Order: sequence, then structure tokens, then C-alpha cells
Amino acid sequence: MREHKQIQHLASAETDFFSLKIEKWYGENKRNLPWRETKSAYRIWLSEIILQQTRVAQGLPYYQRFIEVFPSVNDLAEATEEQVLRLWQGLGYYSRGRNLLACARKIVREYHGEFPSSYSELQKLPGIGRYTAAAIVSFAFGKAVPAIDGNAFRVLSRVFGIKNDIAQGKSFRVFFDWAKKLMHPRDPALFNQALMEFGATWCTHKNPRCGDCPFLNECYAFRNKAQGHLPVKGKKTKVTDRYLHYIIFQAGEQRFLKKRSGKGIWQGLYEFYCVETSGRTSWNELEDPLLRHVMEEEGGVLGQESAELKHVLSHQRLFAVFCTVKLNGCSESLRRIFAENELEAFDEEQIHGLPKPVLIGNYFQNQLSEQEVFVEN
Ligand code: ADE
Repeated sequence: MREHKQIQHLASAETDFFSLKIEKWYGENKRNLPWRETKSAYRIWLSEIILQQTRVAQGLPYYQRFIEVFPSVNDLAEATEEQVLRLWQGLGYYSRGRNLLACARKIVREYHGEFPSSYSELQKLPGIGRYTAAAIVSFAFGKAVPAIDGNAFRVLSRVFGIKNDIAQGKSFRVFFDWAKKLMHPRDPALFNQALMEFGATWCTHKNPRCGDCPFLNECYAFRNKAQGHLPVKGKKTKVTDRYLHYIIFQAGEQRFLKKRSGKGIWQGLYEFYCVETSGRTSWNELEDPLLRHVMEEEGGVLGQESAELKHVLSHQRLFAVFCTVKLNGCSESLRRIFAENELEAFDEEQIHGLPKPVLIGNYFQNQLSEQEVFVEN
């Protein structure tokens, strides 16, 4: 039985079967995707950054919109952060959207608008890790660097019975070395695409298509009925619950929103004034000085509270309720207090144009039914 410790000792005759079979399988089963038709490092990079966030079907329209609006890295480098976040809206993990812009600007400023072709040089750029760097150097420049993503972990662990815990950083090297040994130098791009495509569509997390798998005779997991146990993945990430009360201060046509600063989720996006509590709390129990001032001193009128909306992120579950506080005009002193709280006034059209978290955008467009749940990857 092949065990991973032996990879260094395997002769190429024993490993050749893998690239031959997976590349043949790819030729017969691949999906036609636009980023596979190009050698443009810019397009490949863009597709990989988007696909870190979402599945192919959901990512495709984002990719097409980005290419349409920003056909080159120079065009993207000239964009504002708000333009980029607006196009990114809905993908989640907005730091990746910001890194996209930072990376484009650095490429233009420091590399004359050309992506470097070096695996290590690419990893110095914002948002480019070892997987994305490997994808770029292999797809765009034909270099023999394995791209190890979740699909590669899954396929290799199952076919070869590699039991290293993929949640541990040191396991990466084990899988990388396996893939490097398996990768045929005649076409590294083909090998990497085939491995990730096979993992994404055949050797899937649940219900892998073992019945028509080209590795039926070789696969460790199939022979040992271990598909459900491989790859080994330890330590679950802890998910925290957060309770958010969004208060929409409204004076005439103007509503007040705040641009989120500092680190954390949704940095740079606009949201309504928010009071966070440690558990579910009713509006009259909210201890918030600004809300109290507006209600007691400025004649604010609390509207109907929305149903609770649940929004699931990778490490957090957000439970949000919204409520409008109507004001009869906005005095100079209240404007000053809002400004101190970084709240700015916007009319409806302006709000539509602002980059917002999906939760806020959806609420604002009133598209939610009471029980709707959004899942952001
Ligand atoms: N997921 C990440 N990168 C991909 C690619 N190049 N093709 C298909 N799915 C992917």
C-alpha cells in the first residue's frame, strides 16, 4: 500500500500514471471557463482571487464584470476603493477586495504594469499567497510549481492515503512535495488545472464519483472505504454569535450612515448606526447615549422594528435587527453630534451607490422575507 512517507523513493514509472490519467480525464471532462483560455497573468490572478471567495458559477459574473470595467491592471490601478468594493459587493471578505486594488497599484508602480513571473516575488504582493502565486506562475508562465488548494489536498490524500492533518501548516510541504513529484514537466498548467478540476467536480467532499473514477484501481480511500475520513482535518474554527441593532436615523429624505474604519470585517463599507449587545436585547433596553439623546432631546420617533435577520460568515453568525428613528429636521447641534459619531447624511440614490455589506444592502432594498438567511463564504 502506498504511504506518503515513501514519495521520495518512488520512481517516476510509479508516479507517471497519475499525471497521465488525470490529464486525460481533464481533456474529457473539463468545464470551459474564460480564465482557462488566456495566458494573461492579470486575468488569471483576477480569477483566482475571485474564486478564493466563491464557487465557479457565482464567481463567473464577477470575473466578467471586473474584466469589462477594468480590462487591464493599469485600468484597475486607477480605480477608487469604492468602485472596487462596489464590484466586489456580495463576495464577502472585503479585505480581499481592497488587496486587489493595492496589488494592482503595486504592479503598476513597481513592476511597470507586468506581473512578476517568480513564485517568491509574487508572494510579496498584497493578497497573493503560495496557492495564488503557484496558479499564476504555472498558468501564465508555464512553471512547474504545484498549486495546492483544498481540491489538491482532497484528491492527493485520498488517492495516496496521505493522513497528515491539513489544518496544520506543516502538512502543506508534504502535499506540495507529492504534487511536485507527480507533476509532469511537459505541461504544469495542465496538471494543476486538472488536479483542481478533478477535486472540484469528481473527487468531491461529499458523494465522490468513485464509480467512474480513473483511479479506481489505485485509490487508497476507495480500497479502504476511507473517502469520508480523508483528508484529515483537525481543529474546527470557533464561530461567535453577534447581536447587532441597526438604527436608521432619518431626517426627511436623508439617512445617516457611517464608513467602517479600523480592522475587521467590512472595513471601508458603509452601514447604519449600530449598537452591538452581548445577547438578544429589546430596543427599550438598549443602553446607548446617542440613541437616548435623539429620543429624549431631539424628538426622535422609533419606527417598527424589523424581523431578526441572520447572516452567516466564516467565523461569525450575525443576528441583526433594524429600526428607523424619524427626526423632524436636523438641528445644528444634532448634525455636530452625528458628525462626532462619523455619521454622514445620504439620500436614497447616494445610498444605492455606496459599497455596503450584503446584509445592509439587502435590508435597504427591502428584498428580505422574514426568515431569509444569507450565507457568505
Ligand atoms: N478554483 C480556483 N481556481 C480555479 C480555476 N482556475 N478553475 C476552476 N476553478 C478554480
